[in-house]
Amino acid sequence: MRWPGGENRLRGCARFVDVNDYVAVNKANWDERAPAHFASADYQVREFLDDPKHLSRVVRFDLPLLGDISGRKGVHLQCHIGTDTISLARLGASMTGVDFSAPALAAARDLAAKTGADAVFVESELYSAPDVIGRESFDFVFTGIGALGWLPNIRKWGEVVAAVLKPGGRLFIREGHPMLLTLEDPRDDKLLVVDFPYFEREEPSVWDEGGTYVETDHVFTNNVTHEWNHGLGEIVTALLEAGMTITGLVEHDSVPWEALPGYMTQLEDNLNEWRLTDRPWRLPHSYTLQAIKRC
Ligand SMILES: C[S@@+](CC[C@H](N)C(=O)[O-])C[C@H]1O[C@@H](n2cnc3c(N)ncnc32)[C@H](O)[C@@H]1O
Repeated sequence: MRWPGGENRLRGCARFVDVNDYVAVNKANWDERAPAHFASADYQVREFLDDPKHLSRVVRFDLPLLGDISGRKGVHLQCHIGTDTISLARLGASMTGVDFSAPALAAARDLAAKTGADAVFVESELYSAPDVIGRESFDFVFTGIGALGWLPNIRKWGEVVAAVLKPGGRLFIREGHPMLLTLEDPRDDKLLVVDFPYFEREEPSVWDEGGTYVETDHVFTNNVTHEWNHGLGEIVTALLEAGMTITGLVEHDSVPWEALPGYMTQLEDNLNEWRLTDRPWRLPHSYTLQAIKRC
């Protein structure tokens, strides 16, 4: 399995990928996706404009575990076009969104301006974020749903999370489960076959595929991406070693995209959640992990 798109073509594992190469390669991919996503009905921009109470489906799923964030200062790492960020602002938080894609941030700023959201958007590569948005500045970090897979080093990610949080500040992440991300693309025999890395590896998986995970007519040209998986234990350990205390870990039997086309059924929850049709209890689909920065 991998993130949704067109034809999945794994080019293999690239060794000695320079850090600037992966940033440039992935940025070109996201810069091209952002306007197509903003124009796609799947990101529900029209609903945000028409209904001041509209929340993204991701944030609506998160609400029971997220709880009350009103009056809190939050940062959304890898915020993309800002629909989740603006949803968190609509729940009463004062939000900063961070992403390395200028076109994604332009779209996010446009939507925030048109909806009057308490949200600002800052351009930064993830690992530079503490220097750009400030250290110990935020009550909570929100991230996930297609965020961690773009980062080569989960320990450095944990350090970024801890660095931007005030002491006592909180991390909330829901993300595709690393076990789901190991699975081979759909097969005729419908077996679930572990084919891709579970543990973090130095070299990325390099993909070359057209399309994206929303409905769009755009024909993409920047199709190469460099991606990494990180095991659940590696993610937890990264946070512990960065000075965080784990306060919650829930594994879910659904994921907010059709991760394994042909194997999954869309739930009737209006949240775009998908679950294995056959014995979904075999597989964790996504997880919510929460942690607090130790004082
Ligand atoms: C799938 S989106 C996740 C956001 C959110 N779940 C959503 O769908 O709106 C991934 C985002 O990560 C950003 N990104 C990828 N690599 C990054 C990096 N190294 N530094 C900062 N942002 C990065 C991309 O620009 C993209 O906007």
